Amino acid sequence: MCGIVGYTGFREAESILVEGLRRLEYRGYDSAGVVTQTGPTLHIRKKAGRIANLASMLLDTPSPGTIGISHTRWATHGGVTDTNAHPHLGGHDSSIAVVHNGVIDNYMSLKAQLKELGYVFRSETDTEVVAHLIAHHYEGDLVAAIRKVIPLLKGTYGLAVVSKRDPGLIVGARLGSPLVLGIGEGEVFLASDPSALLGYTSRVVYLTDGQLCTLTPESYRIFDRDESPVEINIEEIDWKPEDADKGAFPHYMLKEIYEQPDSLQAAMRGRLDFEAMTAHFGGLNLDPQKLRQVERVILTACGTSYNSGLVGEYLFEEFARLPVEVEYASELRYRNPPVDRNTIVIAITQSGETADTLAAMRESKRMGHPALAICNVVGSTIAREADGGVYLHAGPEIGVASTKAFTSQVAVLTMLAILFGRMRHMSFTAGERVINELKQLPDQVRRALQCHDRVKEVAAKYAHARNMLYLGRQFLYPVALEGALKLKEISYIHAEGYPAAEMKHGPIALVDKETPSVFLMPRGAVFDKVMSNLEEIKARGGPVIAIASENDDDVAHRADDVIYVPDVPECLQPIVVAIPLQLLAYEIALLRGCDVDKPRNLAKSVTVE
Ligand code: F6R
Repeated sequence: MCGIVGYTGFREAESILVEGLRRLEYRGYDSAGVVTQTGPTLHIRKKAGRIANLASMLLDTPSPGTIGISHTRWATHGGVTDTNAHPHLGGHDSSIAVVHNGVIDNYMSLKAQLKELGYVFRSETDTEVVAHLIAHHYEGDLVAAIRKVIPLLKGTYGLAVVSKRDPGLIVGARLGSPLVLGIGEGEVFLASDPSALLGYTSRVVYLTDGQLCTLTPESYRIFDRDESPVEINIEEIDWKPEDADKGAFPHYMLKEIYEQPDSLQAAMRGRLDFEAMTAHFGGLNLDPQKLRQVERVILTACGTSYNSGLVGEYLFEEFARLPVEVEYASELRYRNPPVDRNTIVIAITQSGETADTLAAMRESKRMGHPALAICNVVGSTIAREADGGVYLHAGPEIGVASTKAFTSQVAVLTMLAILFGRMRHMSFTAGERVINELKQLPDQVRRALQCHDRVKEVAAKYAHARNMLYLGRQFLYPVALEGALKLKEISYIHAEGYPAAEMKHGPIALVDKETPSVFLMPRGAVFDKVMSNLEEIKARGGPVIAIASENDDDVAHRADDVIYVPDVPECLQPIVVAIPLQLLAYEIALLRGCDVDKPRNLAKSVTVE
């Protein structure tokens, strides 16, 4: 949430800062701003709305200088206005400029103290207190001033700061909000997310919590909380600039939906063991004996990643006979669950930066449980702090609505369940069956994508709906939740997912001829039961869209509309069935004129509580 880009070097900073913000726009799109510097002059430009608004303002009044910092905002404190946009200036002479990700919890009391000292506040943000505090403590040394301010702040921050009196210098600091340095030749970058650096440099250094960094064109340094310099560990990012482009697709979301045959292939590459009919992973950092001792698994995540965890629960129970709990990370972090010695916690996260998931993982580690992460973004905070884990290798996911990360998470959970299962009760033959089916999965997903034209027809028929229900059972109950989440977040249609049989216990009261129900009902053990649930809806006049196995004429006769998907074993149906649901949400959102990649009020990578 919110994006930061900083640059100091030999090139004009403005275009680099704006281009970096464009890459980070998915992290927040309420307002954007830049400040650049020439000698002792700070040139600040900021504007409410999308980065395009800022960019056209910069065409009229460019922002000169070879150093600067910039920000794209997801509003927390204070409305979406030009004034509340970052950067914020501090000091009676506006000598300090700050951009900030995170939340300063004690900003009200700090603001009151600063007002008493005569500081004038222009915005309603929490960030402005940081700018004034730095100015207040400045005695000729920007780093020293920031070091004095940091202990006064309660909350989370990724900060970038420039000062009129320190031309060429950017200072960054992090606690709870990611920051990464990008190392070039004669130029240094700072960003909240390495994707801002694509095309400029692939050499990065991640900051950890409590660290502070200084950047000049010729040098970069990182310091720990105790002010001691940190040994620099440069890492290479392997994402290519084109990974972060839309290519020929009109939206990132559609591109990412269509990438799924490849992202699934990447998630499985080198991990399927066709001899032992199991899966293996390089980075779990738990030896087989430790894995064998695990008696309970807690999966923790938020949003779409939570839904993939729910699929994981069914998979772990089925293959490994292991008790599994799936917990919203935002709840787990404040609970005090009785946990046994042999419990492992697995955090599931695309971004690796979700604040609640990180906090839940840290709390579990504090209690002494091994914490693994299933994560997409390499080098992210959760990936680095976990004891071990599995990368999705799905490439950058930029559409705010998560699609390819979901299916890759489910694929990884399937492989993990096989690994745990084959160490316990799962037979060679049962392992062989699933491993061989997994191998076919990218092709099956490629075939599932062929439903797109049919999905367009269905979308045209139901795009006017005000409410929709998504119903599935067993492995497909979590996919019903995910289908409903996709629809509501990008089309703003109210949608709910339920276990199909739960309808009778309340939600069926919502059913009328204006409320379509999407039934997830490919052939499987509970098919007949779901068919009965479908009849119950039909009997009450509710329109039914069914996602069914290819050539299933029975469903075609009963449902108003059918979308077919390839036949796969039940444990893999969540992945194949997710495809038409993603496309349906996408097409309905388009027909309703919604901004598919940047839905209102949302942002990718939720780094605040
Ligand atoms: C929905 C969506 C969100 C995320 C959630 C967790 O489409 O993208 O619900 O799934 O914010 O994010 P990560 O997986 O990055 O922890």
